[in-house]
Amino acid sequence: MAFPPAFLDELAARNPIEDVVGQYVSLTRRGSNLFGLCPFHSEKTPSFSVAPDKGIYYCFGCHKGGGPINFIMEVEGLDYPDAVRFLAKRAGMEVPEDREHSSVYRKQERLRALCKEAARFYRQELFAPGGQEARDYLIRRGVSSQTVSRFGLGYSPNAWSALLDTMEKMGYTKEELRDAGLALQSKKGGYYDRFRNRLMFPIIDVRGNVIGFGGRVMDDSTPKYLNSPETIIFNKRKNLFALNVAKKSTRGQLILTEGYMDAIALHQYGFDCAVASLGTALTQEHTQLLAKYTKAVVLTYDGDEAGQNATRRAIPMLEQAGLQVKILRMQGAKDPDEFLHKFGADKFQALLQKSENQAEYRLQTLKNRYDLQDDAQRVSFLKEAAELISTFTTPVEREVYGTRAAEAAGISQAAMEQEIKRAYRRRTAQAKKRQERADLDVAGQQQPREKGIRYANLKSAMAEEQLLAQVLKEPTLLPTVKLLPEQFSSPLLGRAFGLLRQCQLEGRPVSLPSLEGDFTPEEMNHLSSVVRRRDTLVSEQAMADCADVIRNEYERTVRTGDDALRAMQQKLRTKKGYGG
Ligand code: UTP
Ligand code: MN
Repeated sequence: MAFPPAFLDELAARNPIEDVVGQYVSLTRRGSNLFGLCPFHSEKTPSFSVAPDKGIYYCFGCHKGGGPINFIMEVEGLDYPDAVRFLAKRAGMEVPEDREHSSVYRKQERLRALCKEAARFYRQELFAPGGQEARDYLIRRGVSSQTVSRFGLGYSPNAWSALLDTMEKMGYTKEELRDAGLALQSKKGGYYDRFRNRLMFPIIDVRGNVIGFGGRVMDDSTPKYLNSPETIIFNKRKNLFALNVAKKSTRGQLILTEGYMDAIALHQYGFDCAVASLGTALTQEHTQLLAKYTKAVVLTYDGDEAGQNATRRAIPMLEQAGLQVKILRMQGAKDPDEFLHKFGADKFQALLQKSENQAEYRLQTLKNRYDLQDDAQRVSFLKEAAELISTFTTPVEREVYGTRAAEAAGISQAAMEQEIKRAYRRRTAQAKKRQERADLDVAGQQQPREKGIRYANLKSAMAEEQLLAQVLKEPTLLPTVKLLPEQFSSPLLGRAFGLLRQCQLEGRPVSLPSLEGDFTPEEMNHLSSVVRRRDTLVSEQAMADCADVIRNEYERTVRTGDDALRAMQQKLRTKKGYGG
């Protein structure tokens, strides 16, 4: 464990779960627990609970759970050590950085400082005599000098060690430049600048740190863009270009584009809410990041096949993060940058205003796939449209789009309506059947939901869950349990049991929050669900009964294991002719 246990206990004590969660979720008391709307999935009725006595939160809807550190990791998108620092700051505590951590932390700080200096160097080079070509290129592409300074654009000189030399003079080492992704090492071991003769786009995180760069060639050579590799300060899955500026926008939505130049052009034309992904597909981390700053996202991906596929993929991901999604379609230009220069801001604003919501978009896409002059195709369209529309959540939506689809296909409204109803009924019947089957499938329900966690012995695992929940409810009874962690059939539950016992020996609180640093967030989700699902009465006898089941199951499997082993040995011996 990275931080001293005593510090973590103090941290937990000074950050009561209901206070920490209460800063993000409005909670209402129900009995000894508090309830509110889950911050991790979108819902209308509260299934998110906080149990102050247990020090944990748990959502009965999306099954996320854990202690205060896990909560901050999830909600602020931080890793474990940063979440600890966050809570320490919140409680006004000093963090005793252990050696390993502080060295990584210090290294990150140092690389951030290095990247900032590098950005300054590139910017100076843009305005130096050698930057003439880059300045001409910017003018040719219509980038104003105000935009250049707002985004800190720069130029990497056409030389092998311009940046290396300058940074070394400032006291940075070649290895540090490599670790920041700015220098490469040749086979012979020498170092050289990664970015040469490129227009430079600094990538800045939401806290204002330069964490990486994109560099564009100024002719037709390839690769068109070169990006910093992943480093200890640069994670493409978690960052978006221009979000540091766009997060301050008052437009009430964020525009998501594919390219640096698109985001930059949008800002220049007054759309200060534009961001761009970093040459990678949209990730769940991105959608969560976006959801922190806005409720609505407008997608303006390219109109080509790749862009359309990216759009189709992004819609459900953004919706899952609770975001309202709109799709902006452009005609006469391949991307926002080109569109703005060709047609201007007013035309783009008009597009933005009528940017379709995703229901319209999906219907439109469907319509484009069929030739509605052809009778047979019209029938197919009718069927598929009904199927699609039946998935829309509100009756109003189903009616509005039903009418629209009917008009498009030249079908009577009544026929369309009937088709949608039929599809709707079929879908709900199927869903009901699925639910019934799931309810019957008890074993299936007892298996953990978290990926990668499976119970090998359900009978034992149920007793283990029960026992663990009781121990957490009444830690004073823990010493009465005569079991070894190895006797648990579930390694995860066994490990939790062993660590809780260790907590007790060390005089630390016997609670889930004490274990946060020892388990992954997924494992904590599962442990929290165990505690919340098994809220039973505690007694020494009940615990002893559970322990008996676990011990018996353990002995049985060991015995069968031994039998199997003996049988195998026997077989081998006979084969080799050694006799019995
Ligand atoms: P585009 O090719 O659409 O570039 O790539 P663009 O933004 O329109 O650029 P201009 O207008 O030609 O200058 C979109 C994004 O994909 C990534 C970059 O992040 C780029 O902004 N990309 C593209 C790369 O990482 N490498 C490449 O070689 C090309
Ligand atoms: Mn472009």
